[in-house]
Amino acid sequence: MMRLDKYLSEMGEGTRSEVKKYIRQGMVTVDGVPAKKPEEKVDETCQTVCINGRKIGYEKFEYYMLNKPQGVVSATVDNHDKTVVELIESRRQKDLFPVGRLDKDTEGLLLITNDGETAHRLLAPNKHVDKVYYAKIQGRVTEETVRKFSEGLNIGRDEFAKPSKLHILKADEKSEIELTIQEGKFHQVKRMFHAVGMEVIYLKRLSMGTLVLDPSLKPGEYRPLEVNEVKKLC
Ligand code: URA
Repeated sequence: MMRLDKYLSEMGEGTRSEVKKYIRQGMVTVDGVPAKKPEEKVDETCQTVCINGRKIGYEKFEYYMLNKPQGVVSATVDNHDKTVVELIESRRQKDLFPVGRLDKDTEGLLLITNDGETAHRLLAPNKHVDKVYYAKIQGRVTEETVRKFSEGLNIGRDEFAKPSKLHILKADEKSEIELTIQEGKFHQVKRMFHAVGMEVIYLKRLSMGTLVLDPSLKPGEYRPLEVNEVKKLC
């Protein structure tokens, strides 16, 4: 049970004082009965609340696909930098967080949600969820690099990157590649290229499991997941 005014403002229907006004003006009904007081309690799981006849749905979980821009940190709060959660202006719940981390200078797909169970499933190493990255590399990526990546690499600090799939899109002084990994170690892609004497100069995540970055989203843009995208994730 929760206060009606709190419920309505958490659902994004206005500030606490705005929704109090709606209630006092008789615009709000609970199970068809006009509500009288903002402090009235509602059971958000089974009662029907409407504003001017429009049903307000209580959705426990929110899911957003963000094309993370460079310069923003994968955190919920930060003293110095803007966070990915702060980019989600339409968020309704206060407990959103990014599923995994992308470095400050990495772009691309980031799922922002408050569904801890789904996040855990996507990140758990034993679930082997594919993460696909596009990268520009300083130096010529060769079939030898592909072979080394397919065998797994020592990436330093006593850590080992498991065998991965490297696909060369362009091999030149600056190369372009697509890399599929199932892990999410700190700076993993950069450290994998470092291990073969190369440097990542641009990195973007394209997909994570069934979730594929919507190509219409520019860096910094986001959209709620579609119902079928959520179903596949969950
Ligand atoms: N690997 C990296 O090095 N950085 C990222 O942001 C993601 C994967």
